[in-house]
Amino acid sequence: MSTDATLFAGRTAIVTGAARGLGLAMATALARSGASIALLDRLDAVRGAASALATQTGARTVGVAVDVTDPLSVQRAFDQVVETLGVATVLVNSAGITSGDSALETSPEQWSRVLDVNVTGTFLVSREFASRAIAAELGGTVINIASMSSFVVNVPQTQTPYNVSKAAVAMLTKSLAIEWLPHGIRVNGIAPGYFASDMTRDFVATNPEMAEQWVSRIPAGRMGEPSELGDLLLYLASERSAYVVGQNFVIDGGYTIV
Ligand SMILES: NC(=O)c1ccc[n+]([C@@H]2O[C@H](COP(=O)([O-])OP(=O)(O)OC[C@H]3O[C@@H](n4cnc5c(N)ncnc54)[C@H](O)[C@@H]3O)[C@@H](O)[C@H]2O)c1
Repeated sequence: MSTDATLFAGRTAIVTGAARGLGLAMATALARSGASIALLDRLDAVRGAASALATQTGARTVGVAVDVTDPLSVQRAFDQVVETLGVATVLVNSAGITSGDSALETSPEQWSRVLDVNVTGTFLVSREFASRAIAAELGGTVINIASMSSFVVNVPQTQTPYNVSKAAVAMLTKSLAIEWLPHGIRVNGIAPGYFASDMTRDFVATNPEMAEQWVSRIPAGRMGEPSELGDLLLYLASERSAYVVGQNFVIDGGYTIV
């Protein structure tokens, strides 16, 4: 049995939304487990994040700017990954955005943007990954970051487009899992509850009362730390989970069971 430090030795992983937040934390877990990592993000800061991760872990890394909603941008980003680190056999789709307005105030443009990034982006990147892994006869694993909002309407904030998008990501995970299992590609999902990421940190700072309400509803009594996703991610990305197909794993300190 491989140790965690060599679990992904010789393999390349792509993580989207990896310039910061949960994506960067999951990229770090994979790097510490021996993978070469391509960090993809819309933010230019992704290049600095990739260099810092290489220094911190000794892993080979590359940071690539991408807009996951643009098929050509996705294709070019994957070309760059192949040139630098080879064909990837692990993909983590973590790029995502939230929505804050009420349904009555949400413009058609805001609605489309959230669906574009969270659903279409996850689809386009997954398809690019799978077509290359299948052509190289390598197989692989895809982990889509959904949300507890795939399954519950968390309150008191309003976020209908986000909830709908994350429900779609959970179904996308199941659908792709069935289509691609015969090609040796396993697709699963992680559905986090409230985690202290860059996405939530600003919100918590400016809405302390709402953050208190969130925490009061979490049986564990606190928000999750991004590093707490690492073990579940490594399990789903590796052959240790060979018989796990198309599942969405909720990790939320118990939020959705009460
Ligand atoms: N933090 C939480 O509590 C929480 C809970 C449940 C689910 N999630 C999900 O986890 C994922 C990561 O969230 P986070 O908290 O780290 O957020 P974050 O905002 O810190 O990170 C998201 C990253 O995605 C990138 N991104 C956004 N649009 C992009 C695009 N079009 N192309 C490429 N990159 C793009 C951003 O630049 C950013 O670096 C998201 O899908 C989010 O919905 C987060």
